[in-house]
Amino acid sequence: MKILITGGAGFIGSHVVRLFVTKYPNYQIYNLDKLTYAGNLQNLSDIEERENYTFLKGDIVDAAFLEEAFAKYKFDAVIHLAAESHVDRSISDPLAFVQTNVIGTVNLLNTARKHWADDLSKHLFYHISTDEVYGSLGEDGLFTEETAYDPRSPYSASKASSDHFVRAYFHTYGLPVKISNCSNNYGPNHFPEKLIPLAINNIKNERPVPVYGKGENVRDWLYVLDHARAIDVIFHEGKLGDTYNIGGVNEWKNLDLIELLCDQMDEKLNREKGHSRKLITFVKDRAGHDLRYAIDSSKLMDELGWKPSVTFEEGLSKTVDWYLQNPEWLENVTSGNYQSYYEQQYTDR
Ligand code: NAD
Ligand code: TYD
Repeated sequence: MKILITGGAGFIGSHVVRLFVTKYPNYQIYNLDKLTYAGNLQNLSDIEERENYTFLKGDIVDAAFLEEAFAKYKFDAVIHLAAESHVDRSISDPLAFVQTNVIGTVNLLNTARKHWADDLSKHLFYHISTDEVYGSLGEDGLFTEETAYDPRSPYSASKASSDHFVRAYFHTYGLPVKISNCSNNYGPNHFPEKLIPLAINNIKNERPVPVYGKGENVRDWLYVLDHARAIDVIFHEGKLGDTYNIGGVNEWKNLDLIELLCDQMDEKLNREKGHSRKLITFVKDRAGHDLRYAIDSSKLMDELGWKPSVTFEEGLSKTVDWYLQNPEWLENVTSGNYQSYYEQQYTDR
């Protein structure tokens, strides 16, 4: 089987590519990635020589490039992860999110539909999405597959739109599709603009750790390898046309999470207990900041037997270890023109 994985040089994509390349030596895996600021081939240096792995540099917004790639490689299936993925960037530049997340996804759907027209039933378009399409929860309740879409940031609006197009191609053209909506991921290779890797980097370097608002927002965190395992299961066993929610059953208030991280890092770096908590700095809140995300994954658990494999404390500890053991990775992605959103927006702090 020839599988096109888009966005495979990014955070989640690189773990999915590695899992498929190593677990399925009979599959040919093609990683199509534009290598934006978030794409990094260093994430895959351990598997780049494998015979069943090919990297294709390209942009999903470029329909002619997709046409050429589909004609040349004759992909049997697509796992679509390429996206602009950071909420703060979507607030500064919504159009970039429309380009890649909406137009890029529709380009992929069109190209797949055209090239698979002879026998659609032999193919699969698996779209990777987020729980943020469901909007924001209050103190209680969980997002299920039946929750109505209510995206509230430009990022989640662009992902919701792409999900709608994927479902529209299923209903209108009979394109075989699956969709999964996952909660916040964390783990190795996470770009340090997102909360956990940004905080690890700043704690390590004894810089302020920016917490938006009062740190009361809640996210449901899932270890990235558990997301990759869920994608494997849904790709092979999920029902066509269905949606699966993926979550960690692991809700944390941002401030509690950062305090746990500070304590873990004090221990690992032999710092006095409480030292790193002093770096916590409350900053202006994100515009339209969603209060709480929490996922009900019982459909995936009950129907396909998936469950998270690590506790948050274990996953976070492994993640910190990875960042401490790979300082050159952090150095590479944070050098050059990279500036965190916090530094760009709040230089007057
Ligand atoms: P990421 O930003 O780390 O990686 C995105 C990858 O897509 C990068 O390698 C980038 O170079 C590539 N890319 C961007 N624009 C492209 C384009 N026009 N053409 C080709 N490649 C392009 O993102 P991530 O966190 O790994 O997220 C991957 C997917 O999973 C996204 O679709 C995201 O919406 C979804 N998701 C992410 C999370 C999360 O917590 N990170 C949770 C649920 C769902
Ligand atoms: P983030 O990692 O950007 O993921 P998302 O916005 O997709 O959930 O942010 C996670 C939470 O952490 C979110 O509530 C915003 C908050 N946050 C901070 O408090 N400080 C930061 O520097 C960042 C990047 C995020």
